[in-house]
Amino acid sequence: MSRYRDFHRESIAHPEDFWRREAARIHWETPFDAVLDRSNPPFARWFCGGRTNLCFNAVDRHLASRAAQNALVYVSTETGIERRYTYADLHAEVNRMAAVMQSLGVTRGARVLIYLPMIPEAVFAMLACARLGAIHSVVFGGFAAPSLAARIDDAKPVLIVSADAGARGGKVIDYAPLVDEAMARAQHAPPHVLLIDRQLAPTRLKANYIVDYEPLREQHYEAQVPCVWLESNEPSYILYTSGTTGKPKGVLRDVGGYAVALAASMEYIFEGRAGDTMFTASDIGWVVGHSYIIYAPLLAGMTTVMYEGTPIRPDGGIWWRLVEQFGINLMFTAPTAIRVLKKQDPALLRSADLSSLRTLFLAGEPLDEPTAAWISQALGKPVVDNYWQTETGWPMLAIQRGVEALPQKLGSPGVPVYGYDLKLRSEHTGELCAAGEKGVITLGYPLPPGCMQTVWGDDARFVKTYWESVPGHEVYSTFDWGVQDAEGYVTILGRTDDVINVAGHRLGTREIEEAISSHAAVAEVAVVGVNDAVKGQAALAFVVLRDAASAADPQAAQTLEAAIAATVDRQLGAIARPARVHFVALLPKTRSGKLLRRAIAALAEGRDPGDLPTIEDPSALQQVRDAVAGAS
Ligand code: PRX
Repeated sequence: MSRYRDFHRESIAHPEDFWRREAARIHWETPFDAVLDRSNPPFARWFCGGRTNLCFNAVDRHLASRAAQNALVYVSTETGIERRYTYADLHAEVNRMAAVMQSLGVTRGARVLIYLPMIPEAVFAMLACARLGAIHSVVFGGFAAPSLAARIDDAKPVLIVSADAGARGGKVIDYAPLVDEAMARAQHAPPHVLLIDRQLAPTRLKANYIVDYEPLREQHYEAQVPCVWLESNEPSYILYTSGTTGKPKGVLRDVGGYAVALAASMEYIFEGRAGDTMFTASDIGWVVGHSYIIYAPLLAGMTTVMYEGTPIRPDGGIWWRLVEQFGINLMFTAPTAIRVLKKQDPALLRSADLSSLRTLFLAGEPLDEPTAAWISQALGKPVVDNYWQTETGWPMLAIQRGVEALPQKLGSPGVPVYGYDLKLRSEHTGELCAAGEKGVITLGYPLPPGCMQTVWGDDARFVKTYWESVPGHEVYSTFDWGVQDAEGYVTILGRTDDVINVAGHRLGTREIEEAISSHAAVAEVAVVGVNDAVKGQAALAFVVLRDAASAADPQAAQTLEAAIAATVDRQLGAIARPARVHFVALLPKTRSGKLLRRAIAALAEGRDPGDLPTIEDPSALQQVRDAVAGAS
């Protein structure tokens, strides 16, 4: 373990020296004058004074040596479309998109909200923003109009880029009504929505704010738009993520630190090399998509495979056939996808030629031991679990095979990654935990390059939320529980806050509760996450009705459950829809009126909720038990 230990120790003891060396991986138009500015903790600024550009590093820089190499391979099993873009093609498309955006008023520092399905134009749009020094904010296509409107109002974009429709599992999802409703709801709706018309939607949105992309692209076909050199700490993007409160936080990322961190991770964690092909099966609306579908593979001069579709359509062999067809070397997805594939015919995996594949990376949710064991055995290749968050932008825990191929321990994503001063601390005292003792996973100051710089527009929230929740210590809280063994391996034991993880999607139970509360029949609600064999967790809602009679018979209860689920779909999107809505007369609360969520979750999973000395009315516990038992 000595190579890993030395490497990690050096990154923490001498971050300036460590990251100065790593910074040489990217092009600096103007060199930085200081590696790290720690004058204003907990804020950290990396590579101060250096000027660079993410798009230049991801695209232009490769033109000299790999113009004819594929940069982006696009496969949609929803539409049957397959496209390949070389670095030269990608460069041309990004320039066209950048010119179109410029013509619509996008400038350095302006926000562009991208609400797109998995289509190549999403990549062009993100890179075009980076080129212009504009700040992209990608909103996952599964979010509903009110969520979209809330993000518009927070980011105040000058432009929205959207499409006529998304598609999933053979179903077309019409975006027009969603965009239209969001535009009407938002206080800060931009003047234009740039529309990528895939000709999938049954209806055409005819609104005066719509600008069609295709004719503008033609008009700017030969455009050459220079990269805007940004100071390393200028923002590159905002990505909203769920937390404890109902209001999502805009995670703000820089330019230079992010580029350096991703480029380094490609070697030390992913062992990816220029010319390799990487397939990250995620969505551009999530951080894994930002970092490992788009920026990291392109920064490293690799070919990235972008896939629209599910892992089981047309059949459960599709991903393995993609590996064979495109000679994929690195694959990255979430454990849920593997649990889904595990249920498929194993012959589908065996019949594909997987010789190109070197490693499978999994992240986003706990990797359970049976799934880890099954997939490593079935593939016969290393499976690397890695733990991180939207906030960090790249892994915090992993076996860093490019540093030292330490042995894996099933159930653990591995050891702290270089750059991260990761420690487990007591929830009550903030003191360091002993080996084997459960604690909160924290990070010391400064966070390494690439991590969030602040909450967009709300420095105070960044400090208060992340840096003031561990008693007595100014450390960053991940809001995850963990336990570390004597060799440094950490196991994740779930969130300390009200965030749940459904199929690798991070959801705030408070947001779901707010959506459910907006239904007229609902008086009170508690949403908790419970174990789910495929999705990792599922959301369950326990609802107290204004009038218990409205769900008195099974038929009425079923109708009301469907109506409440539909409310969540409309407010947040179907990804947030609870698996079940149970009706109870009373919710377990403390005498001061706080919901006992952990107790509710325990009961829903058939576990003992433990001692609850502050409970107001213990009969509420039986209500939850009965509701769950009645449903099964
Ligand atoms: O609870 C942890 C869980 O997912 C959360 C972060 O989710 P998100 O912001 O969507 O970023 C995902 C980036 C991969 C974490 O706080 N989580 C993430 N990776 C793992 C994990 N839990 C267990 N094991 C992991 N490998």
